[in-house]
Amino acid sequence: MEKELQIKTLEGLVLKGDSEISILDSALRSQVNFEYSCKNGQCGACKTTLLEGDVLELQIQTALSDTDVEDKKILTCCCAPISDIVIDAEDLTALKHIEIKTLPARINKIEKKTGKIVEIDLRLPPTANLAFLEGQYFDVIGPQGVRRSYSIASSTSNKVLKFWIKEVEGGLLSQYWFNDAKENDLLRIEGPKGSFFFKEPKKYIIFLATGTGIAPIKAILDKLSESPDVVSSTNLMLYWGNREPNEFFWEPDYPELNLQYIPVLSKTHDAWVGRTGYIQGNVINDNLDLGDTQVYACGSLSMIESAKLLLVNNGLNEKYFYSDAFVSS
Ligand code: FES
Repeated sequence: MEKELQIKTLEGLVLKGDSEISILDSALRSQVNFEYSCKNGQCGACKTTLLEGDVLELQIQTALSDTDVEDKKILTCCCAPISDIVIDAEDLTALKHIEIKTLPARINKIEKKTGKIVEIDLRLPPTANLAFLEGQYFDVIGPQGVRRSYSIASSTSNKVLKFWIKEVEGGLLSQYWFNDAKENDLLRIEGPKGSFFFKEPKKYIIFLATGTGIAPIKAILDKLSESPDVVSSTNLMLYWGNREPNEFFWEPDYPELNLQYIPVLSKTHDAWVGRTGYIQGNVINDNLDLGDTQVYACGSLSMIESAKLLLVNNGLNEKYFYSDAFVSS
């Protein structure tokens, strides 16, 4: 039988917890939004400190280092309380009015952007009344109930939800997107989810993306371009990394923003005259002042882990590194 327990935060929140449900899920059920992304222990976004009490690991906390464990860090998506606990997680106020919904959605448009990337526009029922923050993601539920998470590549002012989906070899939903999907197909979506969204800006903002990790960054930039005053005294830098020149299927075009765009190819290529290497290495080579900087990073887990370590070692305050790692389902 589930045992009812208390989850308390340093801010004074008190939530109902139980020993069979992760702290994160207990919070979400109570309409409290802690930081999270993957919900399966890999990305580390939900890392917090266990200040009092004990927890049980429901799934492996892959993203914790030995030092994290020594420092009493836990992943709220992986642990359930087995006593009353106190943690230092914050309720993200910006997400308070955001309600997670399950809704029907029809494919409005399908367009191949490259041989391996497809753009899908989904339209919702006129009564859907869906709110989300640019940067968040949705679970798309396709044929046979197969569910995958995709970041939204459009802003709330867009009439459709746009997704950029990369083909995954042997992937069940990939098969559908690349071979079978057609306009007007009926799917379901669940969301919005995740805590990757634009925060109060600092003097400098660095956006880092690899591959289709550019999608939530594009959504954030679209939103900023609709109200550029928000970042009128902020320098924006966008580093987008890909493996092949033809993977740069989108070009940022935001004349109203103070944005510098730096495409980076991972290796030298005959058809490429631009930057090469790791995007995080390019940031360091650019000698940016990281002291008054925010970073929004989205893409592969390896890029995010490496970028965070490198940038924090070079003066970035760890709490201003916001990330959304693409991890396997
Ligand atoms: S590790 Fe918990 S949300 Fe990713």
